[in-house]
Amino acid sequence: MQTKKLSPALGIEVSSIDVTQCTDEQFNSLREKWNEAGGLAVVRDQHLTPQSQTDFSRRFGPLFGEDDHFQDTVLPYLMPEYPTIYRVSNKKTDDGKALGRARAGSYWHSDVSFRDRPAMASLLYAIEIPGVGGDTQFASQIAAYNALSPAMQKMLAPLNAVHDFRVAARTSGSYSESDINSGDFDGTNRCLHPLVITHPDTGQSALFINPGFTSHIDGFESQESATLLGFLYKHIVQPEFIYRHPWQPNDLVIWDNRATMHYAIQDYNEDRYLHRSTVIAAKPSR
Ligand code: SIN
Repeated sequence: MQTKKLSPALGIEVSSIDVTQCTDEQFNSLREKWNEAGGLAVVRDQHLTPQSQTDFSRRFGPLFGEDDHFQDTVLPYLMPEYPTIYRVSNKKTDDGKALGRARAGSYWHSDVSFRDRPAMASLLYAIEIPGVGGDTQFASQIAAYNALSPAMQKMLAPLNAVHDFRVAARTSGSYSESDINSGDFDGTNRCLHPLVITHPDTGQSALFINPGFTSHIDGFESQESATLLGFLYKHIVQPEFIYRHPWQPNDLVIWDNRATMHYAIQDYNEDRYLHRSTVIAAKPSR
């Protein structure tokens, strides 16, 4: 296995590994390097079936789509035979049905942060990629936290924020009427998380808010919350904290939602088709 740093803030490129064949020792080493790189790894040249992607993803932990862990907000786009695989795509079937969610994640967010147990790792496997465009940006929320003054870090430390799927459903422009079902708003997709969390593996602090799903800071008046979140939302997407990924077919990108946010750039018309599997985290804590 070879690795190369992708940007000063976060990310490694990993080559010379077949994730479907890796031993426990190789997997542990990959996971350690992933943690050291701020929770972003671009593994090149993988050849994954829905089953082998599911099997590999499960090595990180339990998956959405298994047992009772349904991610109802993406239900129409799960593969019927593999509910662990969520299709992200602008393609349509011959009879005009959406093959995946188009414009998925075209706003800064951390996957499933609106659940008590949000996403830990997301594994996105590129099958068809536009000739140009369709990059994904990743922002290190560890670097963003570290760049705040000690006084601001101290002020944020005891705060909690409400995360609600409703925010993205209403404001991002990514969700059509048919994407939303009443169950999306029954309280299952709304929860409270610390605004600063401690990464359970590395002990590093990270900001845990995102414009996609965070509705407000708990206990603040709405203007107070909007002002503080407005400052933080500007702060957390500074270019210094970002790696922008230009996809190649057969890339498997693994990101840690407890250490990063991401944004899928919608600047293409050509076909784009990817499979995402999503690992469930423990409830984040400070
Ligand atoms: C997502 O938010 O999982 C989609 C990312 C992408 O399409 O690049």
